[in-house]
Amino acid sequence: MATWIKEQDIAQYKEISEEEVTAALDFAVTQVERNLPDFTDSFPGPASFSGFYKPGENRNWTTGFWTGEIWLSYERAKGVEKERLLNAGLTQVSSFHKRIEDKFDVDNHDMGFLFSPSCVAAYKLTGNEKAKEAAILAAEQLIRRFHPIGEFLQAWGSMDDPGNYRFIIDCLLNLPLLYWASEVSGDVKYRDIAEKHIHTTMKYILREDDSTWHTVFLDPKTGEFSHGSTCQGYKDGSAWARGQAWGIYGTAVAYKYTKREEYIAYFKRIATYFLNHLPKDLIPFWDLTFGGESEGTEPRDSSSAAIAACGMLEMSKYMEPSDAAYYRSVAKKFMKALFDGYRVKNGDSSNGQILHGTYSKKTPFNTCTEEGVDECIIWGDYYYMEALTRLHTPDWKIYW
Ligand code: GLY
Repeated sequence: MATWIKEQDIAQYKEISEEEVTAALDFAVTQVERNLPDFTDSFPGPASFSGFYKPGENRNWTTGFWTGEIWLSYERAKGVEKERLLNAGLTQVSSFHKRIEDKFDVDNHDMGFLFSPSCVAAYKLTGNEKAKEAAILAAEQLIRRFHPIGEFLQAWGSMDDPGNYRFIIDCLLNLPLLYWASEVSGDVKYRDIAEKHIHTTMKYILREDDSTWHTVFLDPKTGEFSHGSTCQGYKDGSAWARGQAWGIYGTAVAYKYTKREEYIAYFKRIATYFLNHLPKDLIPFWDLTFGGESEGTEPRDSSSAAIAACGMLEMSKYMEPSDAAYYRSVAKKFMKALFDGYRVKNGDSSNGQILHGTYSKKTPFNTCTEEGVDECIIWGDYYYMEALTRLHTPDWKIYW
């Protein structure tokens, strides 16, 4: 029998204080600076090994998060360190420019995860033209994955494979790249596709109990819902913690760009399910199926709490004051839980930012390959820093 706390119990938890936010952000920036020698011409992989990321090439869907950490640090740093971070960020932008020009490992929908925190951030912060060009090329690459039948961006695999006629909840975070591309290019085609994909996602992704599908297959002939399934969750029908967290942040950005009132209600439903499926310390196990009874047997996914915190802080900008205050407070409680129990406190013990993330855990019922279980994971580190930045600087201009 799974044991979770109830959403109303969260009222008793403590929020992270302003002093703790500043201390945590300053430590995180120091950690990024300390990592620059290893990760300027190279990139950390998606997950650490016993707490340490290894340098590798610019591949996979995850390298933009490290560059995003550099830009968040650049925003906070001063003097010589700021200059160092700027140079490192621009070196990484050149790598992304080459990657998209060479079309290296870009045949998937993850262009937003890759290019928003790296190149869009670089362009917004420095006006760098190479960054702008790379991000527009990435947007162009992403819209190639649009299927008019069903109106969605296909997540993975070749576009003529009927066995891959599906979208996934994570993709909501790839769409800000398209809105940005329309804004800077004046061409509405990117935004139109983003909007269609959002509406299709919102139509099918929520289940009756307010949990979400990780992946949704559509019928290639009619474009109608065929079936839902999981890749990285425990099993079909369970609620993969990070999928639900992508739903929280994804619905917030969906609202930001479309201003559709019903998305506020969807956000609350997805968030409520998340908040009713947490163990005592507020940091979810990797699938929300697991509650307190799984302590010591199942790993957590700390990145889900960081993503959810960012989504709540974003959505609180658009809500009426009492809802906004509520979600802002919950986000601060997630950050307090990460601060107290999950943050890396000493750079000699890990080169990441938060411990106990889970990338993919294999079960007999899912289709993923096991990787990064109970490790630092690079987007967990990035979103932890983003949430701290949001709390530290409430008018922070987002990269998404
Ligand atoms: N977007 C893939 C993941 O969250 O693991």
